[in-house]
Amino acid sequence: MNMSEHSVSIRDLTLDYGNTRVLENLNLDIEQGEFIVLLGPSGCGKSTLLNCIAGLMDISDGQIHIDNRNVTWEEPKDRGIGMVFQSYALYPQMTVEKNLSFGLKVAGYKKDEIQRRVARAAEILQMEELLQRKPVELSGGQRQRVAIGRALVREAKVFLFDEPLSNLDAKLRSDLRVEIKRLHQRLKNTMIYVTHDQIEALTLANRIAIMKDGVIQQLADPHTIYNKPVNLYVAGFIGSPSMNFFQGTLQTGDETCFVTDSGTHIPTSSYQFARASSDSCSAVLGIRPEHIIAGEGARGMPFSTRVEIEIVEPMGSNTLVWTRVADQAVTFSCDSDQLLAPGQSIDIGFDPARGSLFDAESTLRL
Ligand SMILES: Nc1ncnc2c1ncn2[C@@H]1O[C@H](COP(=O)(O)OP(=O)(O)OP(=O)(O)O)[C@@H](O)[C@H]1O
Ligand SMILES: [Mg+2]
Repeated sequence: MNMSEHSVSIRDLTLDYGNTRVLENLNLDIEQGEFIVLLGPSGCGKSTLLNCIAGLMDISDGQIHIDNRNVTWEEPKDRGIGMVFQSYALYPQMTVEKNLSFGLKVAGYKKDEIQRRVARAAEILQMEELLQRKPVELSGGQRQRVAIGRALVREAKVFLFDEPLSNLDAKLRSDLRVEIKRLHQRLKNTMIYVTHDQIEALTLANRIAIMKDGVIQQLADPHTIYNKPVNLYVAGFIGSPSMNFFQGTLQTGDETCFVTDSGTHIPTSSYQFARASSDSCSAVLGIRPEHIIAGEGARGMPFSTRVEIEIVEPMGSNTLVWTRVADQAVTFSCDSDQLLAPGQSIDIGFDPARGSLFDAESTLRL
């Protein structure tokens, strides 16, 4: 596909803050109408990348194309984007209506066009009855809706969000998360959304870009990111509680087998290798807590063992259990109907085909 068919295209983007290189040779192509989430820990360069797309900072090298135009040196207002920040940045002395219309007025739009756009945004965000209030008279969730509305009235092709839900409490976050998803389904704009919250990433994204130290580690749909992480970093970052990791050796031959450092054999003949590898190597086997089966059925799995339960954490919909396998702490998740107690023995098992194998040296998926 050539560059002109993408909604947003980032080519060899490099950005330095003084002597510090924050982004290096970064490439990213985003399709029309796609919801892309930039996910990563604090300081990995998510906001920096978003601000480069928005035109809020001068890049050191590379090009940015939006909607078939090279906008690398264009002003933010000319790029055809709408932006929503974590801090709502509303004008406190203005009503909601004025907050929504102010930017359009400054840009010289006619009165009836401004009215049409404000009415449309208010309808989409269901805040018609809030138009005459001032920000101080709104809840945090309502304020963030106004901030989203301010991006909506620009009728931009591309929306950029920088952690828009971070200031809200857990309940409001999940409510507004659904609203943003509904908004995307209705408008079908391209959306680029920054977060360090993996649940937001998994629930909202068509594709997630997982970042670390300014480098995109994996760019894929949520299903692939969750099931086939490309390296140890992505595997450990996605999933809560985190994937269990066993250190050991992958023995290849007629039947491949993973042998933990403590000598436990885990047959891996059901595992689909990413590439043909013939040599035995130091490896890490990762298995998610929710892919371990406990009690009945465990014995039928390619690997099973009997363990003693150490800690039981009821989570409501499921229960997390802490135990040890092959001299290592292991967490598994089971049905909340299963009555389990510390000290009790239970069979657990899993199929390595549901897990991930990594080369211990390169940390890449095997
Ligand atoms: N104005 C600046 N001058 C120098 N370094 C900066 C500046 N702004 C950001 N940085 C550095 O650039 C790196 C990336 O910062 P950025 O704000 O993009 O991270 P982030 O992924 O958005 O993190 P967070 O989740 O905390 O918002 C960090 O190491 C940060 O310290
Ligand atoms: Mg940030």
